[in-house]
Amino acid sequence: MKPRVLVTRKVYPAALAILQEDCVVDYHDAYEVLSPERLQRKLQHAHGVVCQLTDRLDAAALAAAPNLRAIAQIAVGYDNIDVAAATARRIAVTNTPGVLTEATADLTFALLLATARRLPAAERFLHSGAWQRWDIDLWCGADVHGRTLGLVGFGRIGQAVARRAQGFGMRVLYSSRNRAEPALEAELRAQHVPLDLLLAQSDFVSVHVPGGAATRHLIGVEQVCRMKRTAFLINTARGSVVDEAALIAALEEGLLAGAGLDVFEQEPQVPEALRRLPNVVLLPHIGSAVTSVRSLMCALAARDCAAVLRGERPQHLVNPEVFA
Ligand code: NAP
Ligand code: GLV
Repeated sequence: MKPRVLVTRKVYPAALAILQEDCVVDYHDAYEVLSPERLQRKLQHAHGVVCQLTDRLDAAALAAAPNLRAIAQIAVGYDNIDVAAATARRIAVTNTPGVLTEATADLTFALLLATARRLPAAERFLHSGAWQRWDIDLWCGADVHGRTLGLVGFGRIGQAVARRAQGFGMRVLYSSRNRAEPALEAELRAQHVPLDLLLAQSDFVSVHVPGGAATRHLIGVEQVCRMKRTAFLINTARGSVVDEAALIAALEEGLLAGAGLDVFEQEPQVPEALRRLPNVVLLPHIGSAVTSVRSLMCALAARDCAAVLRGERPQHLVNPEVFA
């Protein structure tokens, strides 16, 4: 009997073609996110699930899935999945690292530039018909070239952002639990420093750690207060890493120059207070939103799901204990 795979939301067709070779596919062909009750009902008969960061695969959902052997997330981050509960049930969890690194680094740099140079507001001004003439201080912003960039997290995406910063002649600092190899530090001209020093010295602080309990509010009131008043905070990682209330308060009180955010604590809800601020650029979680990249992510997740269901080790396994 072919295994049964639930695809929770609309995906690129590449994923379906791969899954249909070996599996019976229960495709929820819609943008709508399944409610916890519907997800649990559908999981009852599933051997595999291809899911997205909007699906909550918590202990309750897994408890409702007695046959589940594979959770294939179409994203690199997987803080929506209770990996410990999955491991306890010997369910393999996979993700899609690598294929989205450059696209997400591009978006991070675009957001940094847009925030520093106030591009969205300047464009809205022109579209509104308000432009009268060239003025000496019209839409002036902050310098990027030659400034200091602090990367919180120096994994695949953090390093890819550091590469882009080289082209802008930036000084690059980074903080992470483990130090990178000296050769890599030299290649990227990046200096490992404690987080407090990074916050105090950077003109741009860009966040690149995973979401989840270990990094929740890593950037909180205390950290925001350590930043320069002229500095910008950029977050394309996960909303939970930054204490949004503390960030809003700091922006309102002029303790920071601005922020560029692609991710939020309660997506898709974005606090009204944040949307009202003139010095923020806000994007709807589009870090990896390049058609070819998203298609590759779908294919990768489908391949890994099918591999697990064939009893093979998948390419990107989050919980290797399951295959030990
Ligand atoms: P990665 O290669 O695993 O890098 C993660 C980095 O975070 C590493 O430097 C890691 O180094 C550090 N880190 C991990 N846990 C930490 C902790 N508790 N405290 C401090 N540092 C910690 O991941 P990636 O591929 O660069 O992706 C990073 C994140 O970006 C993803 O998890 C995802 O949430 C987010 N993302 C967002 C988008 C978007 O659309 N906006 C797109 C792609 C990815 P150490 O272990 O040495 O600390
Ligand atoms: C997107 O946010 C991802 O984690 O891939």
